[in-house]
Amino acid sequence: MTHAVHESALLHATCEARYVHDLALRDPTALHAWPVQSTHAHAHVKGLDASRALQMPGVRAVLTGADVPGAQQIGPVRHDEPLFPSEVCYHGQPVCWVIADTEAEARAAASQVQVAYEPLPALLTIEAAIAADSFLTQPQTIETGRPDEEMAASAHRLSGELRVGGQEHFYLEMQCAYVHRDAAGGLHVHSSTQHPTETQITVAHVLGVPAHEVICEALRMGGAFGGKETQASSFAAIAALGCLVTGRAVVVRLDRRRDFAITGKRHPFLARYEVGFESDGRLRALRVELFSNGGYSLDLSAAIMNRALFHIDNCYRIEHLRARGRVARTHLPSNTAMRGFGGSQAMVIVEEIVDRVARTLGLPVEQVRERNFYGPGDRTHYGQEVRDADRIGRIWRELMTSSRFTERRRDLAAWNARSRDTKRGLAITPVKFGISFTTTYLNQAGASVLVYRDGSVQVNHGGTEMGQGLHTKVRVVAARALGVLPQSVRLMPTRTDKVPNTSATAASSGSDLNGEAVRRACVELRERLAPVAGQLLGCAPGEVTFADGRVSGAGKLVAFVEVVERAFLQRLPLFAMGFYATPGIHYDAQRGRGEPFRYFAYGAAVAEVEVDGFTGHYRLLAIDILHDVGDSLAPLIDRGQIEGGFLQGMGWLTCEEVVFGPDGALRSRGASTYKLPGIGECPERFVVNTLGRASEAGAVFGSKATGEPPLMLAISVREALRDAVAAFGGIGPVALGCPATPEAVYWAIQERTRPGSGA
Ligand code: MTE
Ligand code: MOS
Repeated sequence: MTHAVHESALLHATCEARYVHDLALRDPTALHAWPVQSTHAHAHVKGLDASRALQMPGVRAVLTGADVPGAQQIGPVRHDEPLFPSEVCYHGQPVCWVIADTEAEARAAASQVQVAYEPLPALLTIEAAIAADSFLTQPQTIETGRPDEEMAASAHRLSGELRVGGQEHFYLEMQCAYVHRDAAGGLHVHSSTQHPTETQITVAHVLGVPAHEVICEALRMGGAFGGKETQASSFAAIAALGCLVTGRAVVVRLDRRRDFAITGKRHPFLARYEVGFESDGRLRALRVELFSNGGYSLDLSAAIMNRALFHIDNCYRIEHLRARGRVARTHLPSNTAMRGFGGSQAMVIVEEIVDRVARTLGLPVEQVRERNFYGPGDRTHYGQEVRDADRIGRIWRELMTSSRFTERRRDLAAWNARSRDTKRGLAITPVKFGISFTTTYLNQAGASVLVYRDGSVQVNHGGTEMGQGLHTKVRVVAARALGVLPQSVRLMPTRTDKVPNTSATAASSGSDLNGEAVRRACVELRERLAPVAGQLLGCAPGEVTFADGRVSGAGKLVAFVEVVERAFLQRLPLFAMGFYATPGIHYDAQRGRGEPFRYFAYGAAVAEVEVDGFTGHYRLLAIDILHDVGDSLAPLIDRGQIEGGFLQGMGWLTCEEVVFGPDGALRSRGASTYKLPGIGECPERFVVNTLGRASEAGAVFGSKATGEPPLMLAISVREALRDAVAAFGGIGPVALGCPATPEAVYWAIQERTRPGSGA
């Protein structure tokens, strides 16, 4: 069987794939917008003088709040983001926008806009926000059992604190929107957005027009990773406003530096915890308090904290647990969705806790992990049954065997005994990630499937393509469900006038939701065509099968296109809408109970590293991954998601550091000051396998979501580094920064080998 390759693979490889950036630059009549950015982290805007800028060459307008006919405030959940702030709340925040004939002219004029500020005190860290009682949310809690009593009754207890760093999305195509008036007078928004409907609605609100006046189209994104789930909308709103004011097409196109400074990132987290456990390493009680740095506005921070609380168990049964989370408000860009969506941060935290428990007891960490796994019939702390919990153990054992973990552990100990200044570390970590939006109503999707008289098919659905291969998977679904060849199915650019009221393509659920909506539309068409085929073939509709562009029954065969033509002549509609709302999921946030996920995605990874004791520099020697993708719709796509997700997670946990100065200005502003994993950081041996016999009953054609879960496989790298640090000497737990940069590893070794540290 040949596997589907990415439907844009050839275009990607030949640089012919078009992005919103390209569309924008192909229109020579379009005007360009450039932001005037705040030079303070927090200040009142006392005055704004654009007179000099307006006299600069090519300048058409300076957009301010006075130009807005509709809503002044945007924001996906809470409307707390002023498009033109009178109080700036982070360094680099756009204060107003210059519109000019060219980008260079807009940029030159932006530097001439005079803004008078009255500086105010700024909060930059979670700790500072806690001290000032500055929060964006009330605390959320999920509790099960009797955490206080059982903590007191545990044989052992330990408490600690962990800070987990943020992460820049670093999509290759930066935020971009291009808006023009179409021939019918409506606003046509081209946006690099994961959420065309929200972008459409935001533009409509700001312009004060009904949604039907605005079309949002998302051809494809040059990467998004959560960064364009909510944060594409403000740029589309600026372009649309510019279009309204000037009567011309307007482009907003950020460069790397501005994108880095203006948009939010993965949330840094602070965890304070106390864990009670038994002498065999079994976890008995856990109390954990999570704080995230939300930045200046709410954005999706509450949902991200919610997902963190849902994943503080990872794969572990903790019968008595209280997890509390609260989002700190600081004067930073508003942090937002990023692959893993809070679940990732929580899983780093619980893996650190389990490691500390094991090292406190002097037990092998992998043994303590395994000992705490969920078993069949177990329920999570929010009450959802871990339906296929046996998969955790199955993956674990299969990976232990295929990676030769036990032998390597032995060899590694011998190697470390011989090597004084360089040590190796080995770790295996599991992943359990809940699939569905935790906000239940978002779990819906629509599609329209059009069959033309020549038998070719157009598929429209609400999902967006960001490189993850959604269109490729949906094409497989449509071809299979309709019984046609994949090449006769064309996936159309996502447009809000084709499928309305869609959810963001996020939460890894793009193919589950849109794939199922498309499948249903195809099934409806097939059911309509079956009686027609029955007439042609001389059999009952129920005996007709559709496959590979052929329709068969009663031992005979006709081409799909013949059936289509016959149906057309019989005046049957050759198009159908499909709709899917994930069944069975629900969650009561007040009680912290429910079944928020359709199913869980599982995986595990083994990492081996080598660390230089003098510098903290390390190499990634080998990675072995076993991941559960169900019955994959597109194995090559899934492999790409596993490898890419893993490396992105590894970057987050080992080398990427978002650094702000004491003035709140971003110091890491590009690839030169923000270390991304490069080819040199890739594992020397990288083995990726998928679990066999793993069909998922709850998803389209048995396939499982793969967008986010593999990111958390990278926790194995951090734990392997910790294992190597431990090999330098000393006993008990190993404190290690997160990200575990070479610098952090160096300090961890210093701490470990310091005279008097027990070494
Ligand atoms: N893969 C690529 N190449 N580019 C991306 O931007 N985003 C990730 C993941 N994989 C992303 C990616 C994120 S954050 C999510 S939620 C999923 O893809 C979204 O797509 P899906 O639901 O279709 O898996
Ligand atoms: Mo992904 S963070 O859910 O866009």
